[in-house]
Amino acid sequence: MSTNQHDPEIRRKKNTTQTLLQMKRMGEKIAMLTAYDATTAAVMDDSGIPSILVGDSLGMVVLGYETTLQVTMEDMLHHCKAVARGSRYALLIGDLPFLSYQISVQEAVRNSGRLIQEGGMHAVKLEGGRERAETIRAITSTGIPVMGHLGLTPQSVNQFGGFAAQAMTAKAAQRLMEDARILQQSGCFGIVLESIPARLAELVSKHIDIPTIGIGAGAGCDGQVLVTQDMLGMFTRFTPKFVKKFANLNTAMQSAFQQYKTEVQSSEFPAGENTVEMPDDEWQETLRLTNK
Ligand code: KIV
Repeated sequence: MSTNQHDPEIRRKKNTTQTLLQMKRMGEKIAMLTAYDATTAAVMDDSGIPSILVGDSLGMVVLGYETTLQVTMEDMLHHCKAVARGSRYALLIGDLPFLSYQISVQEAVRNSGRLIQEGGMHAVKLEGGRERAETIRAITSTGIPVMGHLGLTPQSVNQFGGFAAQAMTAKAAQRLMEDARILQQSGCFGIVLESIPARLAELVSKHIDIPTIGIGAGAGCDGQVLVTQDMLGMFTRFTPKFVKKFANLNTAMQSAFQQYKTEVQSSEFPAGENTVEMPDDEWQETLRLTNK
């Protein structure tokens, strides 16, 4: 049984790309989160989160890589399938991993199709601006919705020389603004804006019709996305400035694990209520049969 106490409309209706567009039109902010497994996706559904991103951040917060560059299509498919099994209402967006869409338009269409057909996603996300226009047109022409991603695009981390904020000069800001328009014209239904100045993100959001989803881009975006392991305070290797920890699960988990270890060592766990027993007569018979 669901324990949801949040907006019942958002929870009951299947959310689509049209829901997100409508939310922008109505001035209703969009709350998106990442998920990589069925259990978390189900909790998000119960919490009324309208859209879940199976991000390639998977590589860093679940698979233990330093960057997202090692994530493969097979990794993404594995986790997209899990999220799709756990979610009933959220719009599910699957990230196209590094090299799955940059080599050729054909490969991009094929891999987008796999995230939909095999992974159970409703839309895909890819990184980049004007250089992706042809690819976005080809993917959307097959009926697959595409979300763009501008600003700090983590698959280009080696080109950027780290995870620093982007578009900090007027020229770079102008280029990003143009890229946002090109992504909209190419058919994107939304754009993630990552680590860019807040007033630039707000300007972009006002000047395009499709929703902007910010991460480290201020409150002027049409919605926000956070990596769930960051916002739950589970991932502690580093915490970007823009992350707000809505819980401190790392501390809560450590305390539970330590308590478990203590109780195993002292034989306090498992207690009677955590144990099954056979009827006494069966036990006596067992002793007789085993000569004990
Ligand atoms: O991979 C991811 O989780 C993302 C978000 C940070 C937007 O791309």
